[in-house]
Amino acid sequence: MSETFTKAMARNIFYGGAVFFFLLFLGLTFDTVQGLPKRDHRENITDAVVRGKHIWETRDCVGCHTILGEGAYFAPELGNVYKRRGGDFIKAWIKGQPTGAPGRRQMPQFNLTDQQLDDVVEFLKWTSEINTNNWPPNIQG
Ligand code: HEC
Repeated sequence: MSETFTKAMARNIFYGGAVFFFLLFLGLTFDTVQGLPKRDHRENITDAVVRGKHIWETRDCVGCHTILGEGAYFAPELGNVYKRRGGDFIKAWIKGQPTGAPGRRQMPQFNLTDQQLDDVVEFLKWTSEINTNNWPPNIQG
C-alpha cells in the first residue's frame, strides 16, 4: 500500500486548480459585466450627461477630487455630492470659487457658463445614481 504523494498527483492538482480557478474567474467576470447595465442605468445617459463628463475631464476635476473612490485625495468625494448637496448648491459652489477662506484648501474658478454648470450637475446626478454597493464607504471620501 503506497501512500506517497507522487509527481503526477502534484501535477494534476496544479493543472486542475489552475483550470478551476480560471473558469471561476471567467464566470465571475461574465456575471459582473452582465449586471452592469442594471447598476449604472446607462439608459439615463443624456447629451447633457456626456457634455458634463467632458467638462469633468477637460477641467481635471479628478486631479483634486475622487469620484466613486477613484482620483486624487486633495478634495471631497463627488460621486455622491448631488445627493449630499443638490444641484443648486453645486452650481453656486463652482461659481463662488475660490472662497479665499483662511486655512481651507482652495478650488480654482473655472468660469463655466450656466449651460456648462447645468451639464456638470447632470453628470454628477447620473453618477450619484450608480449602484456601487455603497462604495466608497466614507461619504466624503
Ligand atoms: C485644484 C484642486 C481642485 C480642482 C481642480 C477642482 N476642485 Fe472642487 N474642490 C476643491 C477643494 C479643495 C474643495 C473643498 C473646499 C472647502 O471645503 O473649502 C472642493 C469642493 C468642491 C465641491 C463641494 C464639495 C462638497 O462636498 O461640498 C464641489 C461640488 C466641487 N468641488 C466640484 C468641482 C468640479 C465640478 C470640478 C471640475 C470642474 C472641481 N471641483 C475641480 C478643489 C478642486
